[in-house]
Amino acid sequence: MLSWDEFDKEDAAEPVKGANTGHAAEAAMDKLDSAGGAAALEARAVSANDSAAVARAKAALDKLDIAEGLAELEGSAARVAVDEKRMINCRADLNQLVPFKYDWAWQKYLDGCANHWMPQEVNMTADIALWKNPEGLTDDERRIVMRNLGFFSTADSLVANNLALAVYRLITNPECRQYILRQAFEEAIHTHAYQYCIESLGMDEGEIFNMYHEIPSVAKKAAWGLKYTRAISDPEFNTGTVETDKELLRNLIAYYCVLEGIFFYCGFTQILSMGRRNKMTGVAEQFQYILRDESMHLNFGIDVINQIKIENPHLWDAELKEEASQMILQGTQLEIEYARDTMPRGVLGMNAAMMEDYLKFIANRRLSQIGLKEEYPGTTNPFPWMSEIMDLKKEKNFFETRVIEYQTGGALSWD
Ligand SMILES: [Fe+2]
Ligand SMILES: [Fe+2]
Repeated sequence: MLSWDEFDKEDAAEPVKGANTGHAAEAAMDKLDSAGGAAALEARAVSANDSAAVARAKAALDKLDIAEGLAELEGSAARVAVDEKRMINCRADLNQLVPFKYDWAWQKYLDGCANHWMPQEVNMTADIALWKNPEGLTDDERRIVMRNLGFFSTADSLVANNLALAVYRLITNPECRQYILRQAFEEAIHTHAYQYCIESLGMDEGEIFNMYHEIPSVAKKAAWGLKYTRAISDPEFNTGTVETDKELLRNLIAYYCVLEGIFFYCGFTQILSMGRRNKMTGVAEQFQYILRDESMHLNFGIDVINQIKIENPHLWDAELKEEASQMILQGTQLEIEYARDTMPRGVLGMNAAMMEDYLKFIANRRLSQIGLKEEYPGTTNPFPWMSEIMDLKKEKNFFETRVIEYQTGGALSWD
């Protein structure tokens, strides 16, 4: 039985010899060996009651090489000082979350958790009735719903895969990794939300989920994003040289500034505009929650990119600046093409030309957010209500509204 006296004794045992002197790993092993000593050996002794399987497990632990396990841990085994923490190529122990260096990353993790929502909380009844009513929506409105569910249902998987399979292991900071894990879960919720809409409306799932192979305006955006995952998702890929560090930066710019920062904006605007007109309000409510999450993903990504630039100014040379600017302009062009394909005529009080202005306005913001020159001078925002939806203070109100609405089972108002 556990005795708390023994526990206290163990706790007050000798401090780790040699900690923070470069011999911490050896000292830690000594401590494990001596502290484990008699009690562990006694517990591990094979008794007559043990089955052959249990006896084998105990014998295997006798041969456990602790040094092997420690060598697997990333970074050094010393206590972490805040000055050692870095966004990329950091040698400090990544399993020690604190002390924080990037408080903004931790705050975003907390904010993301505070905004938690699930797709099933949204009432889809009115959408189902409207979608099934042959007179409910025009062909142009139906096209917008279909195309956007087609694009988004796979786009969020691309983002989640890029995070989990490529970015996570290359960002060497635990508070940022904590946010990346939260973001990855939010991407799963977004994919769930699109699946939930598709299922609720009784759409052909194969047609929608395969649009990123079949519809050119959707396929081009997906292909553009995938191109930037390829190199860094190779398990052999590692940062640490100028070229590979730049490759990671390109990926972050492609995903945070372009995919999440531009490719989502035509669709968000179209669906939210529908909600404002009291059409497909359930789908629009799902998109509104997603947009709120995405605003935070985007801001996190911009902060990470700018922090890497501050810590590694040699990476942000004229060549990479030019390349980053080109990436944002290419993304804007693809999104303009998507706007034309999804809106062959004016619909919902907007048209492709207005969307083009909006996308140029957004592109200017993305460029300036990472310290680049705006490329579309004199552009103004034709959809100021979109900025209001994204406004942080409003977002808080929005979340409070949602809790009340959820309790009463009603719908959001679109004033
Ligand atoms: Fe997402
Ligand atoms: Fe996202």
